[in-house]
Amino acid sequence: MSRAHAEVRRYGVLKAEDNEILTRVGPGTLMGELLRRYWTPACLSEEIPAPGSPPARVRLLGEKLVAFRDTTGRIGLMQENCPHRGASLYYGRNEDAALRCVYHGWAYDTEGRCVDMPSEPAPFCEKVRMRAYPVHESGGIVWAYLGPRETMTPFRDFGTDELEQENWSATKQVTDCNWVQAMEGNIDTAHISHLHQWDGIDDIPDDGSDKPGYPSNAMSWKFWRHDRAPRLELDDTWYGYRYAGIRTTPNGNTHVRITAYVVPYTTMVASIPWNQRQGLFIPMDDERTARYSFATKVPENVQGYGGANLFAAAPFSTPISRGRRAGVIKREYTAGNDYQIDREVQRTATFSGVADFVSQDFMVTESMGPIYDRTQEQLGSTDKAITRMRHLLISAAKGLAAGKEPPAVGTGLDFRSIFGAEKILEPGEDWRVLATLEDPTFAEAFDASRRHQHA
Ligand code: FES
Ligand SMILES: [Fe+2]
Repeated sequence: MSRAHAEVRRYGVLKAEDNEILTRVGPGTLMGELLRRYWTPACLSEEIPAPGSPPARVRLLGEKLVAFRDTTGRIGLMQENCPHRGASLYYGRNEDAALRCVYHGWAYDTEGRCVDMPSEPAPFCEKVRMRAYPVHESGGIVWAYLGPRETMTPFRDFGTDELEQENWSATKQVTDCNWVQAMEGNIDTAHISHLHQWDGIDDIPDDGSDKPGYPSNAMSWKFWRHDRAPRLELDDTWYGYRYAGIRTTPNGNTHVRITAYVVPYTTMVASIPWNQRQGLFIPMDDERTARYSFATKVPENVQGYGGANLFAAAPFSTPISRGRRAGVIKREYTAGNDYQIDREVQRTATFSGVADFVSQDFMVTESMGPIYDRTQEQLGSTDKAITRMRHLLISAAKGLAAGKEPPAVGTGLDFRSIFGAEKILEPGEDWRVLATLEDPTFAEAFDASRRHQHA
């Protein structure tokens, strides 16, 4: 039995108790405690756009919270229910550097301190303190630390702390299933040869880029369609892992798509030539997930927002749309309308019959039910990256409970060096070097951009 196969068998079908560990995120659960050790997206900056603007409801790790940007510009993230008698502060007044409950007028600053208590003859403000969490705004996302203060870890900067607003874009949409289930869709390279396919790809003219080097996006679609059973190779790294989905092209070349997984909830899906575009899968509670997409435009990425122009730059028309690309995205394709599946289109034009790319993913991951019973799965060799991710998470959660520090946090870690990539290999080239400093093409571009940033 090959090593890959042994690993699938070993970490493959989960025991019921491990599925519980993997999927439950509330306070006091093993995974909930692990996730609370990481800075985590709470909302988009644009949900609380300006000082004094209305607060936003935040559902995060099973907690009911409210976020607001006070009149001085400071951001607060705290429990939604007023400590007095529980009215929702979402309806509160954002004024005088505090959020004021509209029931009896008690007001709270961004640290959760009660600063005014106009309904009481003898106010006892100093005795009232509510649950409030530290926040850090970066790259259009308000990040929060929900763990114990004494174990607070440094913010994991993927390169956004120094970037101006015109150089990032962030979106968010809510999906009705467990966070791991949603994330599995992003990590899975095999499904792009199926779920997202359409028949017209066969008619895309050969532009000559099926040769060692960086193919065009159009040709990449053809490769995914041509070889529908990729081989997976996976390397563990300090932050999680990187893996290659390896396909043979029509000309017999070796095409690799390299995706990085950063514990616990970050995926960097392959794109040509490389990118730091991220999909973040943030549990709102056990059964709902906020899916953030996040891209930075940095000089080392010759295509700008990596992967974003998968369609836009394509010299062909597609029956699949890519949807809105900024801010909070309202879902049009939902379980309630069967994702607007069109059976005629499914029969004649696209593999799924669903018109929107990301909604194709939502259809398959939500249709499993809010938390799938993974003891029922039959896993194969192309599920290896998914089983590895589950294993890393479950062992980190158990490890933390046993006193072991969580992985991929701490000082001195360079999250800006992690990239996804895609290429047709030169003879003898190892996919592991692509988009690392050992890759000469990448190193040159990366060097130039760092010099540019520090000029
Ligand atoms: S419930 Fe908020 S002030 Fe009374
Ligand atoms: Fe997908």
